[in-house]
Amino acid sequence: MTATVTGLAVHGGPKVRTRPFPPRHLFGEEEKAAALRLFDDAIQTGGVFGYGGPEEEAYCREFSEALGGGFADMVNSGSSAVYVALRALDLEPYSEIVCPAITDPGGMMPIPLLGCIPVPADARPGSYNVGPDEVEACLSPRTAAILVAHIAGEPVDMDPILELARARGLPVVEDCAQAHGARYNGQPVGTLGDVAAFSTMSGKHHATAAQGGVVFTRREDLYWAARRASDRGKPFGLSGAAPAASSLASAATNVIAAHNLNGNDLAGAVGRVQLSKLDDIVRRRRAVAARIAQGLEICSRTVTAGWQPAGAEASYWFMRLHVEASRLTVAATAFAKAVAAEGIPLNPAYGAALQSHAPWFLEKRVFGTSHLPWSAPEYRAAGGDPQRTFACPNAISVIESDFNLSFHEGWGSTEIEDALAAIEKVEAALGKMV
Ligand SMILES: Cc1ncc(COP(=O)(O)O)c(C=O)c1O
Repeated sequence: MTATVTGLAVHGGPKVRTRPFPPRHLFGEEEKAAALRLFDDAIQTGGVFGYGGPEEEAYCREFSEALGGGFADMVNSGSSAVYVALRALDLEPYSEIVCPAITDPGGMMPIPLLGCIPVPADARPGSYNVGPDEVEACLSPRTAAILVAHIAGEPVDMDPILELARARGLPVVEDCAQAHGARYNGQPVGTLGDVAAFSTMSGKHHATAAQGGVVFTRREDLYWAARRASDRGKPFGLSGAAPAASSLASAATNVIAAHNLNGNDLAGAVGRVQLSKLDDIVRRRRAVAARIAQGLEICSRTVTAGWQPAGAEASYWFMRLHVEASRLTVAATAFAKAVAAEGIPLNPAYGAALQSHAPWFLEKRVFGTSHLPWSAPEYRAAGGDPQRTFACPNAISVIESDFNLSFHEGWGSTEIEDALAAIEKVEAALGKMV
């Protein structure tokens, strides 16, 4: 293909794609009917639908079955799921939790909200995800847990991280917010560590209506701890009531202070229908991603599908594309912006996900202006500096070289061809001559 710089849409030329990309059609008549059934029932009986009832229970059971067995607690968001999963571990304040540098704010903020210290591990070179060397470099005698996130639906290379954790007796939390249905060495993500968190807001692979989340574990003790942590410390899973302070207080049995982060039956009813579609959604996403990757091999010298570890079966919340800037006359970001300007949903900057450099983290803004938990005298930071910063050079580098193609399972041949054509056009104009 021949193309000139001035013919690029970013410089006022015609766009490759002028029509909007198709919407997802995530919710259909079945979800509507499931929600209406609850309203109909409430109207007929004069009752209400609530939380922890038959729909939420069935959703949790079906969610666990989809992961091959275990226990699920539905909560009200993915951020809450991360919070509850960590809280279930009953960590002491000021303990350090190794976490990803690249993640959603809701995947890291729960750590200081629990009074613990987030220690962002750099990304593995060429990936958004943490790698074992980067995690190991963050471990200290104060480390109490390792939190990983399968960003973009690409599984983290778990085996060496689980080995590190096992050797030190550390629990591993998997943040699967972006990775429903992804597998690693044949096993679903979320079943690899001790406890996992999922987001089921309406942008995710499957959704429990507008917002939602799930805590999943195969450890019954952590399940009950999660239930207590997500519902104001009610004594779920404990035999006998908590000792009452006085006979007057004998009705109060709450055993820990905790938020109300519960899911609910309406979300469960919608989520059950959605869950039945998840396998198909993931299968179709994989098929679209495979066609894009194959197309890139033919049409591009510059853009490739992002590297993934052996044994990874991604579920592609988005598709990470790597741009080889050495083959371009411009920076990779300028290339990505030019592709986006052709009408393609390519996010030219995932910098918003770099929590190690986010204002809230750098300025330690969690509890007023106290800088707690970092400023607490009880916190003795590894290396002696509670104010240390985390350069995370691999994370910065991958954010400058890799870009997110926001596709979905409804993409057909035209969308795939347009995305490839835009890349080919921009590359013809901005690629180095060979
Ligand atoms: C990796 C990760 N963790 C946590 C969250 C928070 O989930 P929610 O938006 O449902 O609170 C998200 C949201 O996209 C996420 O991508």
